[in-house]
Amino acid sequence: MCITKEIEITDIKKLRQIAHLLAKKSLTIGHGIYLLQGELGTGKTTFVRFFVEMLPGSEQAEVSSPSFNLFNIYPTSPEIIHVDLYRCVDLEEEVLEYLSSNDNIVFVEWCERLPKIYWPLEHILVEFKFKGNRRFMEIKLKGAKFFPLIDIIGEKNT
Ligand SMILES: Nc1ncnc2c1ncn2[C@@H]1O[C@H](COP(=O)(O)OP(=O)(O)O)[C@@H](O)[C@H]1O
Ligand SMILES: [Mg+2]
Repeated sequence: MCITKEIEITDIKKLRQIAHLLAKKSLTIGHGIYLLQGELGTGKTTFVRFFVEMLPGSEQAEVSSPSFNLFNIYPTSPEIIHVDLYRCVDLEEEVLEYLSSNDNIVFVEWCERLPKIYWPLEHILVEFKFKGNRRFMEIKLKGAKFFPLIDIIGEKNT
């Protein structure tokens, strides 16, 4: 089963509010693979930055798109793995290990570029999109362990 909800991101404050709520709840779950989709400039990195700022240790973490590396690791508690596949040619073994472990909170920008066989069965798919000039975030929870996030994103079963 999958739970889907679309939220209008009326302004950047709204994005921050949603990211903070998801971060708090993810801390209680202790784990999460966030697959982020959306064109350049739709807010993926900004979402990760807002999420990270809720975590202990975030003052030591400077969130930016990993450009030289395929991924960044932030020294928060828990540690955050931030992957960006925009320029990815070869997937590193380490990234695949993070995706298949149940111990980390992982963000993958440009998950469209990750072959589906590597998508963890249970994940949170977040699509950032425009309709005209309005911004939306579609959140899909795949896997019962992520259903507690439902409190934040509301209910709509598919
Ligand atoms: N909801 C929003 N409302 C207004 N500006 C936003 C919003 N989300 C992101 N931005 C701005 O858009 C720019 C690009 O965002 P970014 O998060 O880097 O996009 P992406 O990682 O998807 O390429 C940034 O300057 C950011 O401040
Ligand atoms: Mg980005």
